[in-house]
Amino acid sequence: MSQNQKPKLILENGLRTDGRKPDELRPMKMEIGVLKNADGSSIIEVGNTKIIAAVYGPKEIHPRHLALPGRATIRVRYHMMPFSTDERKSPSPSRREIEISKVIREALESSILVEQFPRSSIDVFMEVIQADAGTRLASLMAASLAVVDAGIPVKDIIAAVAVGKADGVIVLDLNEPEDMWGEADLPVAMMPSINQVNLIQMNGNLTPEEFKQAIDLASRGIQTIYNMEKETLKSKYIEFKEES
Ligand code: CDP
Repeated sequence: MSQNQKPKLILENGLRTDGRKPDELRPMKMEIGVLKNADGSSIIEVGNTKIIAAVYGPKEIHPRHLALPGRATIRVRYHMMPFSTDERKSPSPSRREIEISKVIREALESSILVEQFPRSSIDVFMEVIQADAGTRLASLMAASLAVVDAGIPVKDIIAAVAVGKADGVIVLDLNEPEDMWGEADLPVAMMPSINQVNLIQMNGNLTPEEFKQAIDLASRGIQTIYNMEKETLKSKYIEFKEES
């Protein structure tokens, strides 16, 4: 990350540094079933942020003493590849990666019907291939898609986006300069069909009115992303149907 002086985040024409309007999402791509050896997998691109996720399970848990009698244990690893950031990142897990793994586990766990798989484990791995802001949310979405790809029952798919404030303007889907220099960063993840929040964090300051505006903007972005996720899953099933 460059530590230069704060750049202008909203330009004279009202657009952002990457040419987007304040309420515009970054271009997104997603695909499931991208890895042959995992039970479920996905790859997701949100602007320049790229994540690959793999799911193993449900399977018998090892070591056995970790088994929970009434539910599955969800184990999650969020990891950044050494070449994913501006400056080489050490491959060993940082405190930030450990914390983000925990945050993602809690968010993901609340979407999975864990009671259906007592004494088993579901292991979820996410690798950040390229980081350009919003990696925790892109990873969470990649994990959610990979869980569904593994055939694991969920309450709903998770859709997520960060909103924030840049040069006094409430903006949707923060890019790296906005994440770094903006006045507020508010990642939100939801299960839209049951209107349940899986994750909400906040860095910086917003007035109650701005907070409401930001949440409204996030909900709209989440709905668009959710529709894209559903299309991604549907297109895979259509592919299967055509093959058989
Ligand atoms: O990625 P996310 O926004 O969820 O988390 P963050 O801790 O707010 O990090 C913001 C961004 O800083 C990341 O997406 C990366 O682009 C960048 N970053 C980096 O370049 N090197 C790191 N070691 C950590 C983060």
